[in-house]
Amino acid sequence: MTDQATKLRQLVTDKEPDVSEALKEAASPIAPPTLSGAREDTRVIAITSGKGGVGKTNLTVNLAIALGQKGHRVLVIDADLGMANVDVVLGSMSRHHLLNLLEDDVELDDVLIQGPYGIHYISGGSGIEKAQDFSYEDRQKLMHKLSGCGKLADIILVDTGAGLGKNVMDFILAADEVYLVTTPEPTALTDAYAVMKAYSMYATNKNIKLVVNRVYDEQESNDVVTKLQQTSEKFLKMPIGCLGYIYEDRSVASAVRNQKPFLVSQPKSVAAKCVIAMADTVLYGGRMTVKKGWRGFLQQIFNFSRV
Ligand SMILES: Nc1ncnc2c1ncn2[C@@H]1O[C@H](COP(=O)(O)OP(=O)(O)OP(=O)(O)O)[C@@H](O)[C@H]1O
Ligand SMILES: [Mg+2]
Repeated sequence: MTDQATKLRQLVTDKEPDVSEALKEAASPIAPPTLSGAREDTRVIAITSGKGGVGKTNLTVNLAIALGQKGHRVLVIDADLGMANVDVVLGSMSRHHLLNLLEDDVELDDVLIQGPYGIHYISGGSGIEKAQDFSYEDRQKLMHKLSGCGKLADIILVDTGAGLGKNVMDFILAADEVYLVTTPEPTALTDAYAVMKAYSMYATNKNIKLVVNRVYDEQESNDVVTKLQQTSEKFLKMPIGCLGYIYEDRSVASAVRNQKPFLVSQPKSVAAKCVIAMADTVLYGGRMTVKKGWRGFLQQIFNFSRV
């Protein structure tokens, strides 16, 4: 049986199948455009959150660098359109962005940026109006032009906007895997649950994992994960995995201020250690565990960012 995702995936394979049926479905209210491209083995991971500002972009960029350092070809797509988050965190500027692909004379090569630290990325643009929901024609064009991404990367990380907007949901539903970022704050948890609920209703192949950011210790992360897992199983009948956690660390804010990802500017910080360990979990599974150690202890007690 071919499901909607398979049909959409077929749209971007080398042999163009009869697309009329799949395209009709692509125009339906929640119709994910595929981002995987012609290669079936490229992993497409959407990094999302319910509440804004919980650390998606920093996770995306630094995880991309960590995976790159481990020898993988990674492409970051900034799908938080208009906010240019990835450019800011990377400290680079791009002339073209994702929405330029809607113009007839702009091709994938024009928007694909060889960013610093071995990262390829496609900017979400800045100063442009927040994208309207894509029309059927827009989707077709984007799908077609993005199909080449599959050949360029082993892993595609898509940094989405926060919340349940249609474009955010499209990206989440189109991805093979979803990393849902939250902090331990009750408001972030409630908003994370809203994303889980929408995902449980619309995703065909469910694969969602939690990342708990800004925790003070491992137990705090475990508590958040247990709470969300139990709620998900009880009310949504959906199992939800856990990718890991990142400690509260001033290195993150100072890296953003200096527009240099913390994995590069402060590779020994506890946040960097967590992301490096998380990259192993992304690649090989298993459970990450990072001790804060003396440096982390001092950072936390004295608010030092460069011990
Ligand atoms: N582990 C952390 N420790 C301390 N501060 C953090 C941590 N993670 C994120 N922050 C702070 O939160 C800010 C927002 O992070 P980021 O831009 O990655 O969030 P976001 O989810 O992408 O936001 P948006 O929803 O606006 O796109 C950072 O600039 C930093 O100041
Ligand atoms: Mg962001």
